[in-house]
Amino acid sequence: MSRRTTTDLTTRLAGLELPNPILTASGCAAAGRELHQFFDVARLGAVVTKSIMLEPRSGRPTPRMAETPSGMLNSIGLQGPGIEAFCAQDLPWLREHGARAVVSIAGGSVEEYRKLAERLAGESGVALLEVNISCPNVASRGQVFACDPYAAASVLRAVREATPASVPVFAKLSPDVTDIVAVARSCLDAGADGLSMINTLLGMAIDTTTMRPVLAGITGGLSGPAIRPVAVRCIYQVHAALPEVPILGMGGVRTGLDALELILAGASAVSVGTVTFHDPSAPVRVLAELEQALAERGIARVADVVGRAHPPR
Ligand SMILES: Cc1cc2nc3c(=O)[nH]c(=O)nc-3n(C[C@H](O)[C@H](O)[C@H](O)COP(=O)(O)O)c2cc1C
Repeated sequence: MSRRTTTDLTTRLAGLELPNPILTASGCAAAGRELHQFFDVARLGAVVTKSIMLEPRSGRPTPRMAETPSGMLNSIGLQGPGIEAFCAQDLPWLREHGARAVVSIAGGSVEEYRKLAERLAGESGVALLEVNISCPNVASRGQVFACDPYAAASVLRAVREATPASVPVFAKLSPDVTDIVAVARSCLDAGADGLSMINTLLGMAIDTTTMRPVLAGITGGLSGPAIRPVAVRCIYQVHAALPEVPILGMGGVRTGLDALELILAGASAVSVGTVTFHDPSAPVRVLAELEQALAERGIARVADVVGRAHPPR
């Protein structure tokens, strides 16, 4: 029997069909412009933009990055131009370059999320909304929305109501919870069409020379290969409990085989994040490696192996 040389890489995230399952990760490629110097961003499944807030923000004080074993800590905060500049400059750029845009939004209150969704509802070229709920809720003494199923649901309900039915809304979950399936269910009950997971894990590093925290913000988000097993576990647990729900997976993906691991756990598509900082071509390299890995295994369609690591039903 001859082996297939081409693999069908198309995948679906709720109502959105993508030509392939490799995306950028929010915050690791701004709005795609910088990466376009290295490869055509339209080759990716989609570009996931840095979480955008209502107003322009300069982020948190420096130093705000630290290397850790097989990972990185960042406390960038949600630095960005604000929604008006994003709609005036970034979205048109992505449209002109033929890139599918997954727009990530973040806010400090349910109302802020609602306003962002309402503003984006009037824009063309938003393929999917990713709702970053790993933000402090100003109305609840800074408790992170993603760590409270009720608060997470309030955000997702507001965003879903304000977003056209044709645009899928995904909740981006934090791994820093006791029961990620409970938060996932809560977001879905509130109307989310799918889930992105995982955001960074809260970490900290101390400089043993100065004897002070390395990051000015003291704590930061841990990302990179160190967190991949956590991502695999979260995706596996949620896919086991909610097998019909589309998952955009991310966390420490550096190679095509890493991406395949998240797909086998239950992800229908995979975002490539931290590795992009030292290898800007990583998203297209991961895509080529994934395609080769699938061909070597005689797999005709990537969709056939989503969740394959689970026992047969
Ligand atoms: C510098 C940096 C900035 C990030 N900014 C965002 C952001 O704005 N919104 C968001 O949802 N996630 C953000 N993330 C999290 C990533 O999208 C991703 O969920 C996480 O880093 C795990 O993937 P990775 O290990 O491949 O980076 C950021 C991560 C890093 C390293």
